[in-house]
Amino acid sequence: MPLQFLLKRRSVVASQLQEPGPDKTQIKELIRAAIRVPDHKALTPWRFLVFTDDARAQFGEATANIYKNVHKGEFLPRHLVVERNRFLRAPVVIAVISNPVESEKVPTSEQLLSAGASCQNILHAARALGFSGQWITEWIAYDPQVAALLRLKKAESVAGFLYIGTSANEPKERPRVEPEDMMSYWKS
Ligand SMILES: Cc1cc2nc3c(=O)[nH]c(=O)nc-3n(C[C@H](O)[C@H](O)[C@H](O)COP(=O)(O)O)c2cc1C
Repeated sequence: MPLQFLLKRRSVVASQLQEPGPDKTQIKELIRAAIRVPDHKALTPWRFLVFTDDARAQFGEATANIYKNVHKGEFLPRHLVVERNRFLRAPVVIAVISNPVESEKVPTSEQLLSAGASCQNILHAARALGFSGQWITEWIAYDPQVAALLRLKKAESVAGFLYIGTSANEPKERPRVEPEDMMSYWKS
């Protein structure tokens, strides 16, 4: 992989992600990349839920209802619009589910990191296919009622929602810290 691919990497905010999104064959390639991550003891501690087409609006309707119940009248109509349209921001949304298994050798934290690597691989694979994306969590990643809607098992959690689509514009650079500010060489 050319180094510039990594050094120029940028997210594109979900609201800027338009059609076309990846088709079913391309989505399968994204998942193929997502499962090709470092995975201590090959536990496969992740799975992937894909949202396309009408599923995005249906999910938004359901999360808007949860939002309404949680906030009990303490919200504005525009807040519900945001909820309903959340997954409609991009043509495809992939939820990366961290699915840690019982292991004496591999702590849960390592398994969660592997799911994080899946998220990043999906972004890189999407870029390699000519798409753009953003890794987002927001409240829906942490709400128990949304977890039930996603049919997550007890030990499972959302590592990220990957919004994938086409960006009309190249994203501008944003300030980055310098490598030397973030690193040091260990000495005894
Ligand atoms: C675990 C995780 C959760 C994130 N959640 C959000 C989020 O909910 N909303 C958001 O605007 N950005 C979120 N981000 C940040 C974006 O993915 C992205 O990094 C940010 O827009 C900066 O763009 P860049 O990746 O090009 O530097 C999250 C990043 C990570 C790693």
